[in-house]
Amino acid sequence: MKRQKLVIAGAGSTYTLGMVMSLIAEKDNFPLECLTFYDIDHDRQEKVSKATEVILKEKYPELKQFKYTTDKKEAFEDADFVFVQIRTGGLSMREKDEKIPLKYGVVGQETCGPGGMAYGMRSISDMIELVNDIRKYSPDAWILNYTNPAAIVAEALRRVFPNDKKILNICDMPAAIMVSYASILGKEIWDLVPEYFGLNHFGWFTKIYDKEGNDLTDDIKNSILNKGFVPEDSEIVNDPSWIKTFKQVQIMLKDFPEYLPNTYLQYYLYPQDMVKKEDINYTRANQVIDGREKRVKNLCNQIIADQSTQNAHLEVDIHGRYMIKVAASLAYNNCDIYIVITENNGIISNLPDDAMVEVPAMITKNGPKPFAIGKIPTFYKGLLENQLFLY
Ligand code: G6P
Ligand code: MN
Repeated sequence: MKRQKLVIAGAGSTYTLGMVMSLIAEKDNFPLECLTFYDIDHDRQEKVSKATEVILKEKYPELKQFKYTTDKKEAFEDADFVFVQIRTGGLSMREKDEKIPLKYGVVGQETCGPGGMAYGMRSISDMIELVNDIRKYSPDAWILNYTNPAAIVAEALRRVFPNDKKILNICDMPAAIMVSYASILGKEIWDLVPEYFGLNHFGWFTKIYDKEGNDLTDDIKNSILNKGFVPEDSEIVNDPSWIKTFKQVQIMLKDFPEYLPNTYLQYYLYPQDMVKKEDINYTRANQVIDGREKRVKNLCNQIIADQSTQNAHLEVDIHGRYMIKVAASLAYNNCDIYIVITENNGIISNLPDDAMVEVPAMITKNGPKPFAIGKIPTFYKGLLENQLFLY
């Protein structure tokens, strides 16, 4: 098995430690030769990196090299994979994306509505620059991009790099939802095979099967309708905001019983309720700044001070695991099936060919091979087109 040279761009992120833990958990499936962190914010990245050094020394001694840099050449030269997780404007601009729309009584969310559009406009030019930088030094690397707002970023990259077939856009939300389905069924997420269609943060599971082909969709629906729905992944299981969001799935399913909705549909189907639930003085950005960001900072400080992870509560999360499994399937032609964002080209036959849709695909070393979905019902087509024609 060829060992991979991986770069994480935007490594100062609060998700990086979870990613490092996931790389360790997946080291047999996606073995690394070297790991490089890249960020434009030296200080933010340095803290995460110093903690990562300790973690890797303890738990990944086989890794030949770990380094962190703000230099593009040093970062991107000779990479096999680049995971892109940047946030243009940081959490302080996320706060504005949420609070400005709320001031006018409309949804204030980082990827939906006016805030999502603003974040999109902000992210596009940085993403284009970054892809150009990566391509300058590693024309052949796989770029796995999960930068938000993924729907808009994916569309921009499709238009600017139409011939670059080694950029794959991806989101962890369907997987995080499937972790909860798996828990309902007493199974592992990797035992489940989804059928799904939509745009990023705007889609539906139409079926869930197990690996033997048994249809488990009704078991999941009945459980949600009767008992509600809760997050189960370690990163979100105790987070009041995510608990509220998952709870809303029951209401969505009661009102629209045909398919199992992505959690983000709450912002489109019940915008006024979502506005009412928000506190304009303390939005999700504030929660993340006071919550995850502080927690990760303290965790890093602790690990650096101890030069050991013995007092650190480190967890593997679905976010990292999912990205790595997809990367492994790209690297080793595993032909696993994962939900990814890809150009429609007839997958959903009654949507435009150039739409960037979110669908299950077999992930091969030649890229995602999505399965045909055919025509979707008019109601969903209408909702999707409403979004598509915005951009
Ligand atoms: C999910 C979505 C991501 C999004 C994240 C926000 O994982 O798929 O696209 O970035 O939630 O979570 P947060 O906890 O920062 O609100
Ligand atoms: Mn997402």
